[in-house]
Parts: sequence; C-alpha cells; structure tokens
Amino acid sequence: MKQKILLTSSIPYVNGNPHIGHAFEYVQCDALARSLRSAGHDVLFTAGTDENALKNVESAQKAGTSTQAFVDEKVAVFQDLLKTYQISNDVFIRTSSPEHIRGCQKLWQLSKKDIYKKSYTGLYCVGCETFYADGEFPDNICPNHNRKLEVVIEENYFFALSKYQSFLEDLLESEKLKIFPAYRRDELLNFVKKGLQDFSISRPATRTKGWGIPVPGDATQNMYVWYDALTNYITALGFGGDEKQYKTYWEGADIRMHVVGKDIIKFHGIYWPAMLQSAGLPIPTHLYTHGFITSAGQKMSKTLGNVIDPFELVKKYGLNATRYYLLREIPPHDDGDFSDTRMAQLYTADLANELGNLVSRTCAIAAKDGLEIPKESHPEPSGRRLRAEPVEGSPDPLLIINYQSTIVSLWEQVKEINKSFNTFEPWAKSAPDRKTFMLSVLSQLASIGSSLAPFLPEVGENIVKVTTGKIEKISPLFPRLTA
Ligand code: MSP
Repeated sequence: MKQKILLTSSIPYVNGNPHIGHAFEYVQCDALARSLRSAGHDVLFTAGTDENALKNVESAQKAGTSTQAFVDEKVAVFQDLLKTYQISNDVFIRTSSPEHIRGCQKLWQLSKKDIYKKSYTGLYCVGCETFYADGEFPDNICPNHNRKLEVVIEENYFFALSKYQSFLEDLLESEKLKIFPAYRRDELLNFVKKGLQDFSISRPATRTKGWGIPVPGDATQNMYVWYDALTNYITALGFGGDEKQYKTYWEGADIRMHVVGKDIIKFHGIYWPAMLQSAGLPIPTHLYTHGFITSAGQKMSKTLGNVIDPFELVKKYGLNATRYYLLREIPPHDDGDFSDTRMAQLYTADLANELGNLVSRTCAIAAKDGLEIPKESHPEPSGRRLRAEPVEGSPDPLLIINYQSTIVSLWEQVKEINKSFNTFEPWAKSAPDRKTFMLSVLSQLASIGSSLAPFLPEVGENIVKVTTGKIEKISPLFPRLTA
C-alpha cells in the first residue's frame, strides 16, 4: 500500500560552518528517503536552516557584518553541503523567510489560549539557547559551551506546557509517537513524569537586537528560537500561506517522521507535540534519534582543532566512500567515530578491493566476450527497485532505518560472488563455457547496484548502468588512494 510520508531533517544553526555531524544526519535522512521512494512510497523530505538564534547575532557582530548578510553567506554553505552530498530533499526552508515568519505567527495565534505573559528570572546559555536551573551545572558553567550561564531578568510569554502533562505521558506510553531507539522514549517519559514546567517562548526584542520573529500583536517581543525553529516542519510545507503541501504531507500524511540528534529530543518529543496539540494540529508519528560522531575518539571541538570538515572528506575520499563510511561504520542510533585510518581501511578493503575490483574484472571479461545484456533480460531480483513499484503493507521507517545491517549483508553477497569467481576461474575457461556464469554475475551485480543506490546513489546507479546493455571495460570505481 502506497503511503504518504513526510521525512524531516533538523535545521542546523548557521553561526558556523557545517561539520561532519550535519552531513551524517543528512545522509541518514537521504538513505531513508531514497529507500522509501524506491519502494514506491510518496515521500516528501525537508531540510532547512535555523537562522533566528541569538548566537547568529553574536557571530555576525564578531565578523563585523549585518546578521542578514552573515546568515545569507552561511546558508549558502549549508545548501552547498546538501548538493555535495547528493541529498534528495524536496524542500529547503529558511527561518528568516517571510513564509516561515507568517506560519509561526499563525501557529502562535492558534495556541493563544495556552500563552501568557509573566516576569522571569533565569540562567541562560546562549550557546544552547536554553534556560537552565540554578545549580544544574557546577559553578553554573554550561558543560556544552564552557561558558558561564547569564542571569536574565525579563518579561516573557510562556507556553502552558504543564497543561499537557497527561497528554504527553499518554503520547509516549501508548507509542502514538514512536521513538527510536526505545531507551530514548524512556528518557523522555522519565523527564515528563518528574512534572512539566511551562516554558518561555519569547524574549524582549531589544535582547535579540531586533533579530527574530515578532510576537503577533506585541512588537516589543520576539519569539524564542526553539518555538520558531520547530515550526519549520510545517512552514516548509506552506503552513500559514499556500497550504496545499501542508494539507497533503502534514495533515494527510500516513507517517510524519523527524530525524534528529540525541541532544535535541526533548524539544521534538515533548515541546513540539504539545505545541501542535495546543493549536489543534496533527502531531508527528515517528521520532528517530541518532548519536554523535567523534573525531578519532574525541569530541569534536574548535578548541581541539579536530572538527571534521565534510567538504574536505569528499575531496579526499570521494562522495561514495564518505557516504559508505557514515552509513556502514557509524551505528544508526549510537555514537560512532570517524578516523582517517579506519576510512583508509574501509576504502581499500571493502570499496576498492571487494566491490570495485569485482565490477571491473566482470566488465573486462564480459566486454572481451562481447556480452550484451538487454535491460529486460536481467532477471528482476527482489532487491532491484530502482524504479518505483507499489509495495504491500505499511512500512515502518523505523524498521528499515537499519541501513548498517543492509549494507553489511550486501557486502556479504559481494564476498560470495568474489569467492565463486575465484572458484570458477572464468578467465581460464573458453568464452562459451563462461557465458552462463558471467551472465549470472552481471545480473547479481545489477541487483546489488540497485539495492545500493539509496545509500551510495552514484556508485549504485553506475553499477546498474555498466552491467546493462553492451558491456564495456570500465575505469576503476574506487581508484587507489593517494597519500
Ligand atoms: N538548530 C537546532 C535544531 C533545530 S530543529 C527544529 C540545532 N542545530 S545544530 O546545528 O546544533 O544541530 C543540527 C543537528 O546536528 C542536530 O540533530 C544535532 O544533534 C546534530 N549534531 C550536532 N553535532 C553532531 C555530531 N557531532 N554528530 C552527529 N550529529 C550531531 O540543534
């Protein structure tokens, strides 16, 4: 049964350049979007940028430019990242765009009954864009940003989250919102059960130096960046403007799935569903949370100088190898590590030797024998789904997101073919004797290529291409790495 599926990646802050963690999330979403589309589902995949954060204002000031000019420049770099990684997002939403601003204001109006103003004193970390309780961290220093929490006294609008206590308990307990992995759901549930506090959803416009989204009917206040950022998932679909896509892919979707890192699940699993429920809008059905990538065993940080640049990786190893590393080596829902040593190992062993050599030598022998494979004559193996075809049953994206095991099993097939190659020794046989064997290998490779396409689109589609039609000798898929 064909399903309508909305798939969203989180929207990164644009106060700095993208790092490998951003590329990782995009690649995961992309693999999932491509898998679901190739299985015949109707998928809309959104991405975008979180531009109204206070830290953008601070970074622009440091860089000596206007906030708008600063974010414009950074947004272009994130868009380049999506292109470089061949991410197949259908929509890109900027939170400084008029469409987004309009949608946020509409959502606010719809929640009016749960919004009230009060004076507030709190400890704020600009890095996290979050208030923390006094004593939550030793010496009130934020461990994520290593900076002292600022005392902020101001009049803010609050969202009555406490009213949604039992709604959220039920949502998480009943798994109407499915969370993967399950222990993240338990974490959220424990947090909810401790008792929910109302949270601030605005701040004085003076503190944001005018940057941000004005509160409807009160120009002295701007929306709190998380209230505005979360709303991107519906403004990306035109909520508040031309709502055709919103009606189809939010209200009308069978699955509404967010993909986010482990540090921001509270916002997605608690605040966001309550905001939607308050406004009378449908809530997400799935929340997939991934872990963090470390750099050669250490947390990435500017101070340590070990931040991995996703553009550099592609320059050095190519896009296929980079996507392979991210999907094959980093566990889908746990932390994982990136190191050049491991990359070089995987590149040489799995990509150049196991897969690349197999395709090259198959094509070389088949070309010598003048083999020609009409498209239709490849038996249609089960995994071969480059063309969309309707599938039976409703997919649970959380079940198919285990791309790591899918990739491992594809490599087991590659290894098997290599073994059978070495046992049969086609090069030592006469052309007529080896024809059946070579046809079978070509067909298996075409199948592997199409199964690989959602993960490594370039190389997957290329394998299908070179194993179909008149077979020609090819240049190596994975050339030897130069030091
Ligand atoms: N702007 C917010 C998200 C708003 S969504 C409505 C934000 N931005 S971020 O730039 O800090 O993070 C964007 C995504 O990258 C998040 O899902 C975050 O968890 C993820 N990652 C940040 N560092 C990461 C790693 N080192 N490794 C993997 N993912 C990481 O949070």
